[in-house]
Amino acid sequence: MSESISSSLVMHTTEFEFLRAFATKHAGIHIASHKTSMVHRRVSRRIGALGFNSFAEYCEYLQTREARAEIELLINALTTNKTDFFRENHHFDHLRTKVLPPLIDALRTNPSRRVRIWSAGCSSGQEAYSIAMTILAVLPKANQWNIKILATDIDTEILAQASAGIYPKEEVMNIAGALESNCFVPVSGKPDQLRVAKPIRELVTFTHLNLHENWPMTNPIDVIFCRNVVIYFDKPTQAKLFNRFAEILAPDSTLYIGHSESLFRVSDRFRFEGHSIYRKLS
Ligand SMILES: C[S@@+](CC[C@H](N)C(=O)[O-])C[C@H]1O[C@@H](n2cnc3c(N)ncnc32)[C@H](O)[C@@H]1O
Repeated sequence: MSESISSSLVMHTTEFEFLRAFATKHAGIHIASHKTSMVHRRVSRRIGALGFNSFAEYCEYLQTREARAEIELLINALTTNKTDFFRENHHFDHLRTKVLPPLIDALRTNPSRRVRIWSAGCSSGQEAYSIAMTILAVLPKANQWNIKILATDIDTEILAQASAGIYPKEEVMNIAGALESNCFVPVSGKPDQLRVAKPIRELVTFTHLNLHENWPMTNPIDVIFCRNVVIYFDKPTQAKLFNRFAEILAPDSTLYIGHSESLFRVSDRFRFEGHSIYRKLS
């Protein structure tokens, strides 16, 4: 079905409410009640891809056993993936000047020490690669140390883009000094694109993870970036997530959240350090 036909589909209130509840159930995402056009546009594409004729048919299909793979694709369609390299740059300054020096000292003095940084809700990877570039700026041979960035997202399609690490040249040009640095390499046959260089990519592992389900990590995490993710969750869901972060974070470790997010009256397991930076209370 073409885009123009699918965009003319009618979405009734009951179908919109069904889809909103579906996003909450499967991803913890709360879609605001005024977001009808966004849901209509994104879900119409899924309906078109499957060849259904109405929202009603599609919603009915979602409730069948055969819809397993479609659930994932619908959640992918409903997530908002906006991100940037060095977004909220003060977090990367803080990481470089305040957080990494003691962690690097710990690596140097204790051969069994590992450093783990988690980009939770990493979208297309720019956040995780910005962390890796920040690490390499202060520890150029980081790949020889036990230091790793785990980058996770619920959206399987955006994760595939993230692990490829290929971005439009225009986007990379916005990062100060990026083109002159060795952080990006040309992509053969694609002059408009650049790829994140291998030493940076090697520091990052991308994994599919729904933050509301079980987490595979067993060892403590030293730093969590969970920025511009909980903005889509309700307060009880945020509280549960931040308290789980507190459980998995090492003592005195750091949590970065988005500028419009806050732990005020959500979790008392962290001390606020300003600029959406929190330190875990021991
Ligand atoms: C707006 S992006 C933020 C990207 C990056 N952290 C930043 O600040 O630039 C939000 C990301 O959170 C992801 N997300 C939403 N709900 C999630 C969930 N339940 N589990 C894991 N990731 C989720 C979305 O797929 C999306 O890629």
